[in-house]
Amino acid sequence: MHMLRSSLVAAVVIATSAGAAWALDGGDAAKGEQVFKQCMTCHRIGPEAKNAVGPVLTGVVGRPTGTYPGFAYSDLNRHAGEAGLVWTDDNIFEYLVDPSAFLKKFLTEKGKADQATGSTKMVFKLANEQQRKDVIAYLKTFSEKK
Ligand code: HEC
Repeated sequence: MHMLRSSLVAAVVIATSAGAAWALDGGDAAKGEQVFKQCMTCHRIGPEAKNAVGPVLTGVVGRPTGTYPGFAYSDLNRHAGEAGLVWTDDNIFEYLVDPSAFLKKFLTEKGKADQATGSTKMVFKLANEQQRKDVIAYLKTFSEKK
């Protein structure tokens, strides 16, 4: 009986801390710099950054979606920005799991289901929760908005 009770307590503690992990804190920018090496296949960041396969990510947190000068965005990405999507730490956290699905959901919720078609040019997905937190902490070191 005692054993059973303590394992129940342990299960509740685990469930609670897993829930709390969804608030976007606990990102480590130094670890995020390592995660960003995967992004560098397509993106550059920093004061000298230039567009590559993907747009420059300097200042991306706080920037309206699809607006970095000189980058040819997909319609899906551009339309999301026109409908009011501004990048924040929270929404990049969701976006990285499945970029096209995230942008389509946003446009549909804005009543623009007709624009929620096609796909973004960002074919990369990052499922790992801690890696997403870390890479966003790193992105924020290059953004005015924290
Ligand atoms: C295989 C190439 C590729 C990789 C790897 C990649 N991206 Fe992208 N990313 C793109 C492209 C291309 C776009 C433009 C999407 C469009 O126009 O539909 C983009 C767009 C974005 C945007 C939206 C930018 C804006 O101005 O609206 C963010 C944020 C982003 N990527 C973050 C990341 C992060 C963080 C990583 C690494 C964890 C990453 N990307 C990895 C290709 C990539």
